[in-house]
Parts: sequence; structure tokens; C-alpha cells
Amino acid sequence: MNILAIESSCDDTSAAVLTDEGVKSNIIASQSIHVKFGGVVPELASRAHQKTISQTVEQALEEASVSMEEIDLIAVTQGPGLMGSLLVGLCFAKGVSLSRNIPIVGVNHMDAHIYANFIDETPEFPFVCLTVSGGHTQLVLVKAPFEHEILGQTRDDAAGEAFDKIGKILGLPYPAGPHMDRLSGKGDPGFHKFPQALRNEGLDFSFSGLKTSALYFLQDKSEEWKKNNLNDLSASISEAITGVLIKKLKKAVLQTGVKSIAIAGGVSANSMLRSKAEQLALEMGLTLHIPHITYCTDNAAMIAITGKMKAELGQFDDLSMKPFASL
Ligand code: KG4
Ligand code: ZN
Repeated sequence: MNILAIESSCDDTSAAVLTDEGVKSNIIASQSIHVKFGGVVPELASRAHQKTISQTVEQALEEASVSMEEIDLIAVTQGPGLMGSLLVGLCFAKGVSLSRNIPIVGVNHMDAHIYANFIDETPEFPFVCLTVSGGHTQLVLVKAPFEHEILGQTRDDAAGEAFDKIGKILGLPYPAGPHMDRLSGKGDPGFHKFPQALRNEGLDFSFSGLKTSALYFLQDKSEEWKKNNLNDLSASISEAITGVLIKKLKKAVLQTGVKSIAIAGGVSANSMLRSKAEQLALEMGLTLHIPHITYCTDNAAMIAITGKMKAELGQFDDLSMKPFASL
């Protein structure tokens, strides 16, 4: 089966081709327009998707050496995401489906982050997945394909959002997560102890207090001081975020008794989180799955693999499918 997948839920226009041999192409056109605003501007995002979607799909087909005639299935992100952004990908996918008479399947973006783990590996069910992105932070018990139980989630900001907003206070460009990751490698995580909210309570998360705490801690510091201590500050913030994420992941494992864990979403690209997850797996004798770094942040390959899994279960959609911003 040859699958063409399209992802446009936020600020990355992505198209991928997945064949029986694996991922043949995964083109990601990231929108630089938002950098000067320090965050994603929804209207600009949808306009940028419109501009780039045709060429992104063409590039994906070309790189995969697969023609549109050879495509058997279109997989597309249905939600969650920005309505205007979702509409562009969905309308494009429906157009191709209608004009070429190709079956279509809508994919939940958060499911796709989880199933990105199935691109290169075959995790065994059940497993607990820590899904951490710019919009979501969830602990999910994945019992069987598409049989999920959300064990805990953030009550306010997402982990990626915390990286981005605190990074912005530190003067780092959007998205600040990858910059803080790079800087924290040269810093001391024990430089300052930032709070880890709800650390000993349940499986929910809260990151808005961390943002406020960082704001208060930094408000009377000079720009020069911040600059001189940027590595240590990045490491200390990363420690607070990843510390609580791993603590709750461990708690979820103890609660469910699973033997296998996974991490997924943009923040799963974070080196401190990856190494803490490796340590946890070692300590508890668990099998750990982490997607290849290119499949952590938003990409269409994860939409393709999820579409494939849905199609194998006979779960197709039709042209009446609508975008669902809060799916
Ligand atoms: O999954 P994703 O690409 O988009 C959403 O679905 O939200 O995640 C984007 C988020 C951003 O907040 C970004 O700063 C964060 O993932 N991120 C990272 C790293 N790479 C991306 N955060 C920390 N360390 C990283 N290496
Ligand atoms: Zn995402």
C-alpha cells in the first residue's frame, strides 16, 4: 500500500509517502514567518500552508519516486490544531481524494505522535506513552491500537509551551525548546531549583506556575546577568520540566504495571528527557520506545503510519469529514 500523508495542524506544512518498504519521503516546510512575533499567528499560518502545500506534496512524491497514480490511500490530520491550518490540509486532501478517487482517512494528530513510535519499531501493547508537545502534555495508556486511556494531562500550559514561554523571557527565539535543549547541555541543572508543581499529586501536570516563578526570579536580574547565566538557567528550567515529566511517567508505570513505555511529541526530542527516560527504563527493567528525532516534532510520516494502521482496521473516512480543532 502506498500512502500519501498530509499534516498542517499548526505551523509546519508536511507531506510524506509511506510504502510497504517504509517512509520514502517526509518533507517538512516550517514557517519562519512566526519568529518575529514570538509565537504562531493562526491567520498567517493558514495562509502560509496555502502557499506551500502543493509544492510540499509534489516534493514528497518526487523524492519518493511515487506518482499520484500509484497512491492507494490519503491520510490527513483532522485535528486537534488551528482551524484555519487544519482546513488547508483537509481541503487539499479531499480534493486529491475526489479527483483521483483515492480512499481517505482522517488522523488524530495526538494519536499520530504516539504511533510515530511504530515507524521504525513495533512496540508491544499495552504501553504508557508520555506525549509532550507544544499544545499537549498527556500520559496515555495505550491498551491496543486506538484503544487509549488518558491517565493524566496538563491542567494549564503544555510542557513545550513552558519551554517556549520561559525561553522567550530569556530572550530566545521561537520556538525556544530546541535552543534551551542545546544550551542546557553546557549548563548546571542544579544552578537554581525551580518548582515542580503537582510533583507528588496524581498524574496531572501544571506548568503555568513554573512560568510565573521564572518570571519573578528573573525580573530583577540584568540582561547581562541573564546572558552570562543562560546555560545554567536553561539547564535548571529543563531539569524542572523533565524532572516532573519522568516522575509522573514512573508513577503511571507503577499504577498500570506495564512493561513498556514510550515518549512522543516535540518535547520528546529533548536530550535531557530522552536520557532521563533511558535511565527510568534501565532502573525499572522496561522497554523504552522513542521515535527517531525527525518523527518527534510535527511531521507527515507519523500521519502516514497512523493512517495505515487505521486502514488496516477498516477505519476509513469520506468527503463529509470535517476538521476538528479540539479533537
Ligand atoms: O509536536 P510539536 O512539533 O508540535 C505540536 O504538536 O505542538 O511540538 C512542538 C514543541 C514546541 O513547544 C517546541 O519548543 C518543543 O516541541 N520542542 C522541544 C525540543 N524540540 C521541540 N522542547 C525541548 N527540547 C527540544 N529539543
Ligand atoms: Zn504535534
